[in-house]
Amino acid sequence: MRIGVIGAAGKIGQMRVETILKNPGTTLAAVLDLTMEKAAAHAHGAPAFTDLGQFLAVPMDAVVISTPAHVREPICLAAFAKGLHVLTEKPLSNTVEGARRIVEAARAARRHLGAGFNMRYYPSFAYVKDVMESGEIGEIDHIRVYGGHSGLSNFTYEWEYKSEFLGGGALSDVGIHMTDMARHLMGEITRVYGVATNKVWGVPGSEDNAMAVYTAPSGLSATYQATWNDWQGYKSMVEVFGTKGMVRGAYAPMRNDLIVLDKPGGAARRTTRRYFDIAVREKLKSWKTTAVQSFADELADFLALVAGKTEGLRIADGHASLRAIEVADAVRQSTRTGQAVELADLGPMRV
Ligand SMILES: NC(=O)c1ccc[n+]([C@@H]2O[C@H](COP(=O)([O-])OP(=O)(O)OC[C@H]3O[C@@H](n4cnc5c(N)ncnc54)[C@H](O)[C@@H]3O)[C@@H](O)[C@H]2O)c1
Repeated sequence: MRIGVIGAAGKIGQMRVETILKNPGTTLAAVLDLTMEKAAAHAHGAPAFTDLGQFLAVPMDAVVISTPAHVREPICLAAFAKGLHVLTEKPLSNTVEGARRIVEAARAARRHLGAGFNMRYYPSFAYVKDVMESGEIGEIDHIRVYGGHSGLSNFTYEWEYKSEFLGGGALSDVGIHMTDMARHLMGEITRVYGVATNKVWGVPGSEDNAMAVYTAPSGLSATYQATWNDWQGYKSMVEVFGTKGMVRGAYAPMRNDLIVLDKPGGAARRTTRRYFDIAVREKLKSWKTTAVQSFADELADFLALVAGKTEGLRIADGHASLRAIEVADAVRQSTRTGQAVELADLGPMRV
């Protein structure tokens, strides 16, 4: 697959380029960034551009879009108009309407839209889904997801935290991964009740904290918390509780805890997985090695998706990225009205 990368000089764009260069099934067709200096420095011999039209004139099959969210829509629409498949970073857009238009453009072009919810590939979170589906912890009762970091201290650019660029605050940033994780585990989220707060950083329209309850037609519910006030740094956690035990996945550090009971309150078998290989690799190199591995796994799934495979993939589709934004919006709406918000079942996105 010939892939062009937009935003190739960025922190994530560089990692995306690395995975394309390493995958034997992909070639880097071209790169695009805001200045020629940036684009050329990260082109690895591929043609470099600052003009979207010229970039899209290069023969290619797909694009990876790794720009900030607020500029994504026209790029996505142009790529679909050219008949390309798109793998884009999260959040899909800074507005619900923009995300809907992108999904509609993918549908009209009959092209795949993959969403960069790469945490699905982190071994501790993949393990949670595998255990859940194995039946080992019995019938699933509920889910708990958490994502947090220390907010504005981690950001370099205004687009990373101002609502006019990002679409909101913690819900649209670290929290968007965890909303997707909840949906990935429980199925479609069709009911949202939540409260978002904004006392700490005080950025207009950008919530510092959000707590919510999500419900799926399957009957499963998830509690959710996203925060910009976790002063210990980046933390993500997913827990699934069943009639015969529970499983927890966490990062960072990468870790799983599994408790399996022979009956409620009965004898417990406890297992912990600590991923020492990842801890050592991150210590010697960087946390980026874990992200790059997840992007490589996601790219492999994207290739399989485009090749027509439908089963056994972890990749998030356009509906996953749209629903994550709709849910974030629903938490804000619920905060204003005090009422739960009902959402129609989108289901998987078919091409
Ligand atoms: N999946 C993850 O875990 C993860 C982590 C961090 C960031 N992200 C997302 O990845 C995206 C990029 O984040 P980043 O940290 O790499 O940002 P960055 O600022 O380092 O990189 C963005 C790049 O896009 C370029 N760009 C901006 N507007 C452009 C345009 N109109 N056309 C072409 N290039 C343009 C910039 O010049 C820059 O090189 C964001 O959407 C962010 O939310 C995802």
